[in-house]
Amino acid sequence: MLNVVLIAAQSIDGFITRSEEPGTDFCSQADQEFFFKALKEFDCLIMGRKTYELSRESIHASKATNRLRKIWTRNPETWEQSEIPRAVEFTGKTPEEVLSELRDRGKTQCALLGGEETYSAFLNAGLVDELWLTVEPVLFGSGKRISQNRIETSFSLEKTERLSPDVLHLKYKRTR
Ligand SMILES: NC(=O)c1ccc[n+]([C@@H]2O[C@H](COP(=O)([O-])OP(=O)(O)OC[C@H]3O[C@@H](n4cnc5c(N)ncnc54)[C@H](OP(=O)(O)O)[C@@H]3O)[C@@H](O)[C@H]2O)c1
Repeated sequence: MLNVVLIAAQSIDGFITRSEEPGTDFCSQADQEFFFKALKEFDCLIMGRKTYELSRESIHASKATNRLRKIWTRNPETWEQSEIPRAVEFTGKTPEEVLSELRDRGKTQCALLGGEETYSAFLNAGLVDELWLTVEPVLFGSGKRISQNRIETSFSLEKTERLSPDVLHLKYKRTR
């Protein structure tokens, strides 16, 4: 059994980026601390190639050997030099195939780390079991979202936590 948890931080108005600016600089210290602590619960991570490139230096600086990261790209062959077997691997498989491979390799807890294209694809395929959302106390008015596409998925709210006086964390479980 592989549990897939979508983890994201967003503005009050539902944007995961500040307009077109890449990166998550808007995230609070409280969220960063929560995020890195929470990642310890997972034995594998999935992220899109664009999100990987934004955190590539820190991933590789840490030698990245503690858990498997699958980087989603249509061109895995161009990233062969950056591969660290069992730690940083590139794949062009479908979301279903990526998860099936992780299951076959004995993984049980998978964090889906974005960005928008990656979240969308796994949500559209109905492959997200839980959604962990940090709401930062900002409005952006525009930017990327968890998904721009129409999706019909329902969740139940399992837990709310104040990470700091202004920052809310919500844990949802998919109901159908
Ligand atoms: N607030 C948050 O919690 C949060 C979390 C994560 C990211 N973000 C932000 O989100 C932004 C990035 O999101 P994004 O949507 O632009 O990019 P992304 O999801 O990180 O990566 C997109 C890439 O995924 C690959 N991909 C897409 N469809 C694919 C398919 N069918 N098969 C194989 N690979 C596929 C492609 O890589 P190739 O082009 O290499 O083929 C595509 O360029 C950044 O600004 C980042 O800071 C925010």
